[in-house]
Amino acid sequence: MKDKYILVTGGAGYIGSHTVVELLKAGYTPVIADDFRNSNKNVIDGIARITGKLPVYEEVDVTDNAALKVLFERYDFYGIIHFAAYKAVGESVADPLMYYRNNLLSLISCLELSEEFNVPNFVFSSSCTVYGAPDEVSVDENTPLKEANSPYGATKQMSERIIEDVHGSGSKTGFIALRYFNPVGAHPSSEIGELPIGKPNNLLPYVTQTGAGYLEQLTVNGNDYNTADGTCIRDYIHVVDLAKAHVKALNWLEKNPGRFEAVNVGTGIGSSVLEIVNTFERVSGIKLNWKFGPRRSGDVEKIYAKIGKSRDLLNWTAELSIEDAVRDAWNWEKKIRNV
Ligand code: UFG
Repeated sequence: MKDKYILVTGGAGYIGSHTVVELLKAGYTPVIADDFRNSNKNVIDGIARITGKLPVYEEVDVTDNAALKVLFERYDFYGIIHFAAYKAVGESVADPLMYYRNNLLSLISCLELSEEFNVPNFVFSSSCTVYGAPDEVSVDENTPLKEANSPYGATKQMSERIIEDVHGSGSKTGFIALRYFNPVGAHPSSEIGELPIGKPNNLLPYVTQTGAGYLEQLTVNGNDYNTADGTCIRDYIHVVDLAKAHVKALNWLEKNPGRFEAVNVGTGIGSSVLEIVNTFERVSGIKLNWKFGPRRSGDVEKIYAKIGKSRDLLNWTAELSIEDAVRDAWNWEKKIRNV
């Protein structure tokens, strides 16, 4: 059978690496394009240990159209999953041009080459950040997109718009933008997981690093929100479930060529910051050192996914629980810190 080559930009990153595992399991041949600026080459070995297959990887800056073109000439790509992007909200406020340059140019170069080489299937890594601060707390794909809260969020909104315009111009490619809620956890094998560089911005890596004694104390940002325990509510999705959604998106595109759809990827369940802290204490048996601090600017009080579209269109729903995610994140943290 002919190899189904899937270009996975950012395939050595957190969500990318877990998706490469699921692609290999599903019989696709992923080709990782990553310049390892925000990831580690050990990830490739981790993927190989999980799957028994050494994935192909090409060291390339995805914003460099000419360098990326070499891969399109080498492989007859059947699909593209485009992850390569910066993702830190605060950093994007401090250095917006870096975000606009990297996140938009990487997408444009993928789309230009996808058009030139007639790649049939394209999955884009979007985010629930496209909803801005929505009027409803439970959002579906028709919820109006409010103004983005950050340059990072703006790049995701603009990226979806760029894809929509390419689709509208008569492209033969089918596109799915997956709007992730809060990805957490690690592979249950502890071979791959999240590797935040520097102090983490996101909650769960902060919790596990504090639990491991690598950070001193977690600050819970705000206790006066209009929620049951006063802390913010998010929809935390296990990264392995999220990775599987990409395979389902490819499967759907194969059967429905030339379409464009945006799809939420979440569990539909909201958890508060304190619920995550409590889950960590229960799963790890460790008493976490934490305190309340002020609200973090830009935080939305509550947001979680309506999941009907992912279920009906992609035949995908999350299977793993928040306990699974916290346990897997904790096992991964213990492994990398030798705890
Ligand atoms: N939090 C803390 N203490 C911390 C870190 C986080 O209390 O040390 C809180 C936050 O204030 C928030 C919740 O934990 O209430 C979740 O915060 P994260 O930073 O983990 O996640 P966000 O929901 O802020 O960000 C996520 C993605 C972004 C995306 C955003 C869109 O990481 O990429 O959702 O809403 F832009």
